[in-house]
Amino acid sequence: MPDRTQTRPLPALDHPLASDMQDAVLHRPQFEPRNYQYITVEPISGALGAEVAGIDLAAIDDATMAEVEQAMLDHLVLVFRDQNLEPADQLGFARRLGQVAPWPYAKPMEGYPELTELVSGPGDINNFGGSWHTDSSTFEAPPAYTVLYCVSCPPVGGDTSYANQYLAWDTLPEDVKTGIEGRRLEHSTARAFGDHATGKGSPDATTTPVSVPTQHLNLVSMHPIVRTHPKTGKKALYVNTGFAFNFEGCSDETSKPLMDALATHGSLPEFTCRVRWRPGTLVVWDNRCCLHYAHNDYRGQPRTMRRAVVAGERPV
Ligand SMILES: [Fe+2]
Repeated sequence: MPDRTQTRPLPALDHPLASDMQDAVLHRPQFEPRNYQYITVEPISGALGAEVAGIDLAAIDDATMAEVEQAMLDHLVLVFRDQNLEPADQLGFARRLGQVAPWPYAKPMEGYPELTELVSGPGDINNFGGSWHTDSSTFEAPPAYTVLYCVSCPPVGGDTSYANQYLAWDTLPEDVKTGIEGRRLEHSTARAFGDHATGKGSPDATTTPVSVPTQHLNLVSMHPIVRTHPKTGKKALYVNTGFAFNFEGCSDETSKPLMDALATHGSLPEFTCRVRWRPGTLVVWDNRCCLHYAHNDYRGQPRTMRRAVVAGERPV
């Protein structure tokens, strides 16, 4: 990466971001979904996300899977209702999307090293993923997809919101795009996980404990602030305030105003959809082009989710 990332000043914030919001309503796949032969696709919002029907994920054939992969590229987040998936079924589906990688920050499910059970207990104060983020961006090659299945959940609360980062990039003013393209952000495990990373733990930790292995304590990855999706060729904003706090070559103090503005921009309500969980719901999302946010509004209610992540590539 060229040194210019460290010598160019960051762009000034002298005008509002998202000056051309019209682009947000021109996201055609949401308004004109393709006609599929084996599945039906119903978009959730004008920005991203679709419910997919006519499919049993435990027994999916190649032709149907090809349609699911196309729908993933068009809609970024797919929701499958009324599935009845054993751990092996979920793993089998995730493997159709790519190599399933263990998540080393929590104990895996008994007998299934690639699956993590995310359990919220009645005493939990924090939840998993309660900020706008994309998964494991401190890894050199962060996961491409997350495959999350709801085993049990309260009747209301605990929704997950998603934000389309193609739209976030497309709607930035041209001078801001020019000012940030080519720059990288520093994604740090130790900073992201705080006391969890240093082994001190936290009094308000979740029921499923997070523990960062020693070899990950100093894990830092420099990733571009705008990345190109390897399959669609489209550019997506890649800001992750839970994991990255500064531009390469810039202090936190210098970086913060622009990073905060980009993060706010990237999670504008117009770029989002919101998914309500039910037992048997499986959601797949593409971490390369969307952010997600786990709503923490079900305190005192138990919930169990099962997660697999599919390996991705180094962002470019
Ligand atoms: Fe997450």
